[in-house]
Amino acid sequence: MARDKTVYTCSACGGTNPKWLGKCPHCGEWNTLEETLAEANGATRHRFKAMAPMQPVATLSAIEAAEIERSPTGLAELDRPLGGGIVEGGVVLIGGDPGIGKSTLLLQAAEKLSQAMPVLYVTGEESGAQVALRARRLGLRDAPVRVLAEIQLERILAAIENERPRFCVIDSIQTLYSEALTSAPGSVAQVRECAAQLTRCAKSLGTSIVLVGHVTKEGALAGPRVLEHMVDTVLYFEGDTHSSFRLVRAIKNRFGAVNEIGVFAMTERGLKGVSNPSAIFLSTHGAPVPGSCVLVTLEGTRPLLVEIQALVDSAGVAPRRLSVGLDRDRLAMLLAVLHRHAGVSCTDQDVFVNAVGGVRIGEPAADLAVLLAIQSSLRGKPLPRGFLAFGEVGLAGEVRPAPRGQERLREAAKLGFAVAVVPRANAPKTDARAFEGLAIHAVERIEQAIEVVRGLS
Ligand code: TYD
Ligand code: MG
Repeated sequence: MARDKTVYTCSACGGTNPKWLGKCPHCGEWNTLEETLAEANGATRHRFKAMAPMQPVATLSAIEAAEIERSPTGLAELDRPLGGGIVEGGVVLIGGDPGIGKSTLLLQAAEKLSQAMPVLYVTGEESGAQVALRARRLGLRDAPVRVLAEIQLERILAAIENERPRFCVIDSIQTLYSEALTSAPGSVAQVRECAAQLTRCAKSLGTSIVLVGHVTKEGALAGPRVLEHMVDTVLYFEGDTHSSFRLVRAIKNRFGAVNEIGVFAMTERGLKGVSNPSAIFLSTHGAPVPGSCVLVTLEGTRPLLVEIQALVDSAGVAPRRLSVGLDRDRLAMLLAVLHRHAGVSCTDQDVFVNAVGGVRIGEPAADLAVLLAIQSSLRGKPLPRGFLAFGEVGLAGEVRPAPRGQERLREAAKLGFAVAVVPRANAPKTDARAFEGLAIHAVERIEQAIEVVRGLS
């Protein structure tokens, strides 16, 4: 018998190559090519072609733009990143570290939705009994949620056809395998095939499907990025497993705004929504400590106060720059700006920076707070009580405005903060120095910010 032809598929972009290469020729990632069956891919393509319905070509203005029907899940903090609720035929991918609470959240959502519609929960990771046990712990004993413990895709699709759920959870996509492919569950080809088939099924039956996905060590969703293109919404579940707070963040949403977050607290009885989360990531120091600076970051529509901590310590042979929750390359850049423009040198120092509470901060408006925390740690002098800062710092040493500065200041004032160092353009126009009890120092350059802080402490 002739040997099956194989190709090498990139686990990052899904591109294929006939030979193994260290670097993917399509996306340039290293060590991502894995052997997969070539003819199976061809088979998939043919099957899809046969199934794709013929659609007439129409003029844009003639197409009726129907408002999308949403069903709220009943968990307000989950509805927020979803854009208001689940959508008929919509496919959501939710990723997160193991043990963060994905299964818990989806079981809670399934229970709420099952009061209004048929719901199917497919578990590939746990047995039906384990799911039942969790439901009992969560106090969801009487929920009419249908449960299927299965990992074979074709059987799952058959069950969905049979049960006709309007909401279906697949926990998780990495455990499934399709008979059409010979590769192991969790491999690129399997994950892609299973997700594609489930997406097609969701669209044709109008079922709303949630796929649970695992996250790699680097923090990306395992499996090809193609998965993210295939689905309508991508949510990330993040947070420090050691603290009880969890964030659900939308990074792609065809039916709503991205960067919207939902905040939960993990309790004895499952995840509880936190409707007013602005202050949850502040740690409670008795007196101000060196190396700590509060930042107002804007997550979707809600401002969030996060403490940035820095530790600067004399280095050994090679100075280290480490950051948790913040971009490390950006940290290196900021240290160079601090040196060049403000004359503060960390060249012989280790620099560690941490965003407290396991939040990930992507916005550059964190720059000023990071630099002031570093400077405070280096001098061994705390910033004043009730101090906060935000603003982007550019390579020329300029402090650039952050979007929606007034909103950030208002939230800080509401929480009783006393002093703020902010970009000039974000300072209130009317009375630039006092804003609802908050003393505001507007700065245009990093050296100016450092000077203001030196004068304060
Ligand atoms: P789980 O939903 O199984 O995580 P994932 O599916 O993302 O891997 O979450 C498991 C963790 O949550 C586990 O460490 C125990 C904790 N937990 C609670 O604290 N309270 C609860 O009510 C439940 C069900 C779980
Ligand atoms: Mg789980």
